[in-house]
Amino acid sequence: TAGTTRLPLTVLIAAPRGFCAGVDRAIEIVERAIERYGAPVYVRHEIVHNRFVVDGLKAKGAVFVEELEDVPEGAPVVFSAHGVPKSVPAEAQERGMTYVDATCPLVSKVHRQAERQVEAGRHIVFVGHRGHPEVIGTFGQVPEGQMTLIETIEDVAALDFAPGTPLAFLTQTTLSVDDTGQVLDALKEKYPDIAGPKAEDICYATSNRQAAVKMIAPQAELVLVIGAPNSSNSVRLVEVSERCGTPARLIQRASEIEQAWLDGVTTVGLTAGASAPEMLVREVIERLGEWRQVEEHTAVTAEEKMVFKLPRQLMD
Ligand code: F3S
Repeated sequence: TAGTTRLPLTVLIAAPRGFCAGVDRAIEIVERAIERYGAPVYVRHEIVHNRFVVDGLKAKGAVFVEELEDVPEGAPVVFSAHGVPKSVPAEAQERGMTYVDATCPLVSKVHRQAERQVEAGRHIVFVGHRGHPEVIGTFGQVPEGQMTLIETIEDVAALDFAPGTPLAFLTQTTLSVDDTGQVLDALKEKYPDIAGPKAEDICYATSNRQAAVKMIAPQAELVLVIGAPNSSNSVRLVEVSERCGTPARLIQRASEIEQAWLDGVTTVGLTAGASAPEMLVREVIERLGEWRQVEEHTAVTAEEKMVFKLPRQLMD
């Protein structure tokens, strides 16, 4: 403001943050599909849980729908990064549709494990968030009744499989590392013979972003997490910060920040969920700079080099 000096504000930026390899790939799939097949290309469900990304792709010719039946005859369709039940590609095949599957390869890996465990005669205990599209997609890999969803330690206590029931566990990719560790400990204590993956199914991007927040949150009085309320990994980042004792705010855009949040704050932590583009991080820093004399610092806790191949049908 004219005439007054802006107070200094340290912005501690977490790294890694923002786009993961699965989100990068999903966005590129939609862009390439538009180039290859021409607009409009239909996308079943938000390709990734970020309105800014979705609007950007809409502008390029993507049309977002919730169900396959909303896709007109003859139009190409892309399935979102979260994965889909087997019935979806099956229906697309049956209708003779052109479809491209943008399911993250790390989600597909869980899908294959689910199939394998059921083939091996095991009932699956799946740790995930009820209603999330990834959970719906993974449940749709196996016949109904072969998988049980649990979310908490209390849910473990309530399980009542008969002794000797062959069991396996799997998890959603975007869970809290700490909570899931506790749930799996309880599960293994109750069912010592339960089979499971060697490494948990929480993906590298989810765990790296949580570890990065653990690093910055104790040094900040407030943490801003850029992400959508329906983005599981983003909501987990808010929780991680709050458990470090630092209040956190989930914001979709810089315009949602209220100046009053910064009262008495000298250091603000900043991160972004796996579906939030870096442009939104810059937007937030600029916004903060309107009120305060911003000094940026980046805290690097890991380097990420993961890149996933595109589906063959979109390669040149
Ligand atoms: Fe895949 Fe993990 Fe991103 S499962 S879409 S790499 S958050």
